[in-house]
Amino acid sequence: MSHPTLPLEFHELSSSLLPHLRSLNRILFPVKFPESYYNACLANPDNCILVCYHDRYIGVVHFTMLEDAVYINTVGVLASYRERGIGTQLLGIPISRAGDKTITLHVKSDDEDVIAWYTKRGFRQVERINNYYRRLGKDAVLLKWCRNSELGNRCDQPTN
Ligand SMILES: CC(C)(COP(=O)(O)OP(=O)(O)OC[C@H]1O[C@@H](n2cnc3c(N)ncnc32)[C@H](O)[C@@H]1OP(=O)(O)O)[C@@H](O)C(=O)NCCC(=O)NCCS
Repeated sequence: MSHPTLPLEFHELSSSLLPHLRSLNRILFPVKFPESYYNACLANPDNCILVCYHDRYIGVVHFTMLEDAVYINTVGVLASYRERGIGTQLLGIPISRAGDKTITLHVKSDDEDVIAWYTKRGFRQVERINNYYRRLGKDAVLLKWCRNSELGNRCDQPTN
């Protein structure tokens, strides 16, 4: 069933939004983020975007701009707001800023739905890393965005 489009606002992180980021991370992701993570987010607030709907923060994308790569740390949307295209919009932010840079991220290897979600949006698996999520005792797959694909399309082309 198709959901109506919501009027959304996208806000860069600031100290006043930090409690919202902490709360989203607690709900959305199975790992505990250390204080150093939040300090790194605050140091580059334009790389951590929270999505707001009627004064409620409902999703986040956080990415790291490296010299020749963009690493996507997190993309998440609260469960009751999913399947409205919000996750895809959030993912589009680092992709639109990457220019020629490589875009990568890690996902738990047993998160098949999430891997399928990224694959539909032009990412492909390039490596499996055993015990990457040590505290969870889980492997990861490294996904890489295929530059030749449009966001939202399947990736058919091999990458270098
Ligand atoms: C993965 C995640 C971010 C996706 O968020 P989302 O907002 O549901 O993503 P989208 O709405 O863009 O896409 C979800 C589906 O809804 C569909 N959709 C998009 N717009 C829609 C609309 N207006 N109406 C109905 N469905 C729609 C999309 O086609 C998509 O289906 P597909 O993958 O089969 O193409 C979300 O499930 C999540 O937060 N998961 C938990 C955190 C997590 O694991 N994050 C990834 C690792 S960091």
